[in-house]
Order: sequence, then structure tokens, then C-alpha cells
Amino acid sequence: MTKKITIEKIEELAKRRGFFWQSSEIYGGFSGFYDYGHLGFLLKNKFENAWRNFFLSLDDMFYEIFPTNIMPEQVFQASGHLKSFQDPLCKCKKCGNIERADHLVEEQLKESFEGMSPKDLTELIIKHDIRCPKCGGKLSEVGELNMMFPLDIGADSESRAYLRPETAQGAYINFKRMFEILRKKIPLGLAIIGKAYRNEVSPRQLLIRTREFSQAELQIFFDPDKINEHPKWDEVKDYKLRLTTTKDRKNIIEISCEDANKKLSLPKFYIYYMAKVQQFYLNVMQIPKEIFRFKELSEEEKAFYNKYHWDIELDLASLGGFKEVAGIHYRTDHDLSGHQKISRESMSISIDGKKIIPHVIELSFGIDRNLYALLEMAYSEERDQTILKFPRSLSPVDVVVLPLVKKDGMPKKAREVQDMLKQDFVVFYDESGSIGRRYAREDERGTAFAVTVDSQTMQDDTVTLRDRDTTVQIRVAIKDLIETINKLMRYEIDFEKAGKVVYEP
Ligand code: GAP
Repeated sequence: MTKKITIEKIEELAKRRGFFWQSSEIYGGFSGFYDYGHLGFLLKNKFENAWRNFFLSLDDMFYEIFPTNIMPEQVFQASGHLKSFQDPLCKCKKCGNIERADHLVEEQLKESFEGMSPKDLTELIIKHDIRCPKCGGKLSEVGELNMMFPLDIGADSESRAYLRPETAQGAYINFKRMFEILRKKIPLGLAIIGKAYRNEVSPRQLLIRTREFSQAELQIFFDPDKINEHPKWDEVKDYKLRLTTTKDRKNIIEISCEDANKKLSLPKFYIYYMAKVQQFYLNVMQIPKEIFRFKELSEEEKAFYNKYHWDIELDLASLGGFKEVAGIHYRTDHDLSGHQKISRESMSISIDGKKIIPHVIELSFGIDRNLYALLEMAYSEERDQTILKFPRSLSPVDVVVLPLVKKDGMPKKAREVQDMLKQDFVVFYDESGSIGRRYAREDERGTAFAVTVDSQTMQDDTVTLRDRDTTVQIRVAIKDLIETINKLMRYEIDFEKAGKVVYEP
């Protein structure tokens, strides 16, 4: 990667322009927690809506639900999180500093050790004489910490509950009811967008590893007898997936869905969703193909509930390489069977003349990590300043409306244009400072378009429309603005062809 982008530059811009910063700043900051400002929140909304529009429209039977963030202990007994959701830890014998053992070993030996047992990690620490990064002291044996946040509910702490570590469980515990309501059909998809909480030992890299974060997850319940089919298979069978397997981590290969089915022994129902996830990244998020890959996880690396587990990774220059941003998980009947056992409620359904417990394929996205990736991708230093070149439809603000000067009726006209555009777009208004400074300010916020009301507007009801990425300006009639911007948002027309070009750099 040639881009001169660093995590410090992203952090500085994020704070200065209102994307995100560490929570409780006025009390010195709260490690692992981040607050979003107005632009961060708008960007988050844009991402979430794009995710909804794309994934919920894949099937008429995909719906979004909104369960609670706090759930009783039994839920996590059933899911296995109480027993298996552990992080390996080691403590410095000299200064008491606690570190996540696998990450520490990974940093020293430049290799991934995710999923390695505490015993094996302890052996590696001894063998390579890995010391405390803070004081150089010797480290303890590796132990384990459950990553869930426990809560005592009620005045007498009468019951134990947990903040959910993933949104997914809300879909499993509501599956049976939703199945009944939705006319007893599968595949059935239940999506949840919301917060998840994990007591990460070493939160780091801004939004990448935090203790409170957002997820967008889709649980697809299906008949396991039909795992090697998908009604829309023909649409994707020739589509090429970019992936790296456990056998060859060094190289990324491009392989058609058909070949992935034959050569990688992955079932069609799973591969179909790999194709859709890749299309979301390349077409909707407009991630350059070269920095996208699926990574197959080994037996040790897979989450405890998964039979197949491929992560989606993006090569992020500011973080020094590929980072996980999402995952596609074949969770089998692990969760529904677990809930059946603990709740004693049957999770089986009757379908096609047989009784089954449905299996689940989960599409799991970390929203904050994807927002960070979008920020890095958009970050550009040109024209003596920073510009955020987000994909148009994901820009936090769609349009800013600017009166050229604060007189001659222009502010009033500009307000009228703003009111009109507000029905369809996220619109800001700005009348302070020179027009050049105002354009520069919006470029740094990543606002897709600027509409300027000038003296000609007062004569003929046309305005200039400026493209953030090229600074080209065209003249457009106010009555055509909404339609023109909508077409430009969808990249249906070239900017230069959407009106008369009045400025080119
Ligand atoms: N329901 C499955 C599940 O939660 P996961 O791999 O543990 O799977 C899914 O998490 C996604 O959530 C990850 O790919 C990542 O994008 C995001 N994520 C996980 N832990 C995170 C953390 N501590 N901070 C920010 N994002 C996190």
C-alpha cells in the first residue's frame, strides 16, 4: 500500500470533525469505549441502512427484530458462552500488568496464535522468553477470563444476567415465535443491529477492539438436508470469490463459486452468502478488490460454535495489514439445541413432512470496524488538505447548501433549497466564511455535494452543484436537483453529464 495513512491521522480527524473519540474524555477517558459525534453517527446510520437494504432484500423471508441487550444467565449457559467465551491472559510478576497472551505472543513472533490453549501459550512464552511489554518483567502462566459483563438484576440482586456478547442470541431465543408468526417457513432470516459488549483484556486500535461495540448480524435458519442447494445458485455460480485457505495463508486466490463448491468442499447454501457478502463489500462499500479477502479459520481458530468459519478481512494500511471486519459462520443447530436443552422448550419444527431443528448460517458484521475501514478508505490528502472521499451514498452528509454571500436574498433562497432537499437527503447549511473555506470544510467532512446559491440563482432558479472528489461544478435547475442528486448518488450518470459544466479544476 502506498497511501500515507496512519492511525494517528484518522484519530485526529475523527476527533476534530466529530466522528468519534474516547468516551468520558472529561474524566480522563474510558479505555475500550468510544462516543460517536454527529458525523460518526450519520456515517453509522448510512452504513446500517446500506446493510439493511442489501441483506434484507436477499429474501422475502428476511426480517429485522430488536431484542434486549441484557439477557438472563440461562441464555449464555445454553449458548456455551459461560463455559467457552474466554480470553487467555498473563500477568507480569513484577509490575502486575495484565496482557492478552495470544496477542502478546503474536506481536513478538509475528504469527497468529488465536485459539491456542493456555498451556501451549505458556510454553511459547517460556521458550521465547517473552517479557512484559511495560517493564520487561517475567510473565505468569497463562490463565483465562470470561469476556462477558455480569449484572445483578433487581434491588436484591435476585438474578444473574449478562450484557450480550453478540446480538445473535436474541434471534435464537425468539426463533420459535417468529417462525410461528411468519407462517412456518424456512429459510427464515432474523437480522439484529445493535450493541454487543465484551470485557476485552487489551482494547486497542481505536474502534477495532473495544468493550462496547455495534454489530449487524443476520441469522439464516434453514433445513440442513438442503445445505447443498440455493434457489439463486445460478446467479452466483460463476462469480469469483477472493480467499485464502488454511493450507496457503500467504496467497489470495480467486475461485468461482462453482469451484469453491467442488474443490473446497463448501456447501452451496454457505457459498451463496459468501458471494453476497463479497458483493456488499465491493459494490456497496466500494472497497477495492485488492484489499478484500475471505480467510478460512483453522480448527483452533474457529469460534466454539462453528463448523465452518471464514472471516472477511480488509488490508488496512493504518493498521499494518489484514484485519477482520466480519465473518460467515455455519453454527449448525448448536444454539437452538442448546436453548432446547436448557429452556426445555422444543426448538424443532415440522417442515416437508419431517421434524427438524433448523441449522443456522450467520452473517456477522462489526459495525465500528467497518466504519473505521470506510474512514481509512476515504482518507485522502490532496489540494493541501484532508478530503474524505466516501462512496457517495455512504457519505455522512449528502449535500451542503451554501449562499455565495450573506446578502441579496441569497440566504433566504438557500434556506428554501435546503428545506426542499431535506425531504430526501441529509442536508447541512453553512453561510460563514469564504466560499473556498466552506468547500474545504465540507470536503474534510466527506460531504458528497455542495449546492451554491449565487446571483444567477436569483435570476433563473438554477444553482451550482459541486462534486467533492473532483471539485467540478455544474449548473442545475432547482426543480431538477432532487432527481439529479439521486441519479448521481446511484452513479447512474456521469457528473459532467448531469448539467452544464461551469467549473473544472
Ligand atoms: N455472532 C458471532 C460473533 O459475534 P465474532 O467474530 O466474535 O462473531 C463478529 O464477532 C464481528 O464483531 C467481528 O468480525 C468484528 O467485526 C466485531 N467485533 C468482535 N469483537 C469486537 C470488539 N471487541 N470490538 C469491535 N468489534 C468487534
